[in-house]
Amino acid sequence: MLESRKRTPEETEKYMLELKQWLAEERKKPAEEMADFFSKRIGEYENVHLGNWGEEYAHIADYFDSPLGSLLDIGCGTGLELKSIYERFPDVAVTGIDLSKDMLDKLRGKYADRGMEIIRADYFEYPLGTQRYDAALSFETLHHFKYQKKQRIYDKLFQAIKPGGYYIECDYIACCQEEEEICQEQYEFKRREGRIPDDVFIHIDIPLTLEHQTELMRHAGFERIRVLYENGGTMIIRAEKG
Ligand SMILES: C[S@@+](CC[C@H](N)C(=O)[O-])C[C@H]1O[C@@H](n2cnc3c(N)ncnc32)[C@H](O)[C@@H]1O
Repeated sequence: MLESRKRTPEETEKYMLELKQWLAEERKKPAEEMADFFSKRIGEYENVHLGNWGEEYAHIADYFDSPLGSLLDIGCGTGLELKSIYERFPDVAVTGIDLSKDMLDKLRGKYADRGMEIIRADYFEYPLGTQRYDAALSFETLHHFKYQKKQRIYDKLFQAIKPGGYYIECDYIACCQEEEEICQEQYEFKRREGRIPDDVFIHIDIPLTLEHQTELMRHAGFERIRVLYENGGTMIIRAEKG
């Protein structure tokens, strides 16, 4: 298991100052459509992500119970989180869903021999099934969606997991209400400026606070919602079904 490292109040203050500066620098840049964003960066994507969350990718399997028969990974991308999962659970049946053809092509190259079910789809729309999986996972994918939209995916995940199963999320969580609000404001501004229709996904970070995340999970039916690990704005959260 990883050791948590929470920000001190001074670190949070410094973080918020830097975030505001960064948002100001980014303000005039047009928003990028979600799948295009990843296609354009496919060459450097893995190195950048491993540089930022290498430890979390290497240890994510530690947060799952053994045995693990079936796993749903939403927004699986190139499958960075699956390396440690397959090392610990070599026989697990994984279903991975992602929008991006380029990310999934890379994933196929790595795990074609694992019998993984790979689906190119929008996880908000694709039917995830009922009581199909021992567990579900999302890694750095849900911080691009607003509160109401996220409720839909937690409801679907709750339905897709078997009774007694659980959901693990590793994601970017806002340190405070102010962070949630300033990121949302920038998101709405860029949508308005770019005249981007509501149904087009854009790659802009709009993390929710832990309080709001927990509210959504509880509303979906999850119980025993716990933060298992935290490092700055990254948290690993576990939520259980029954
Ligand atoms: C930052 S990447 C994370 C990928 C992988 N989980 C990892 O940590 O390396 C976010 C992924 O979520 C996918 N994604 C975003 N919104 C999605 C949606 N609505 N349906 C399916 N995939 C989505 C993107 O295409 C991208 O591959």
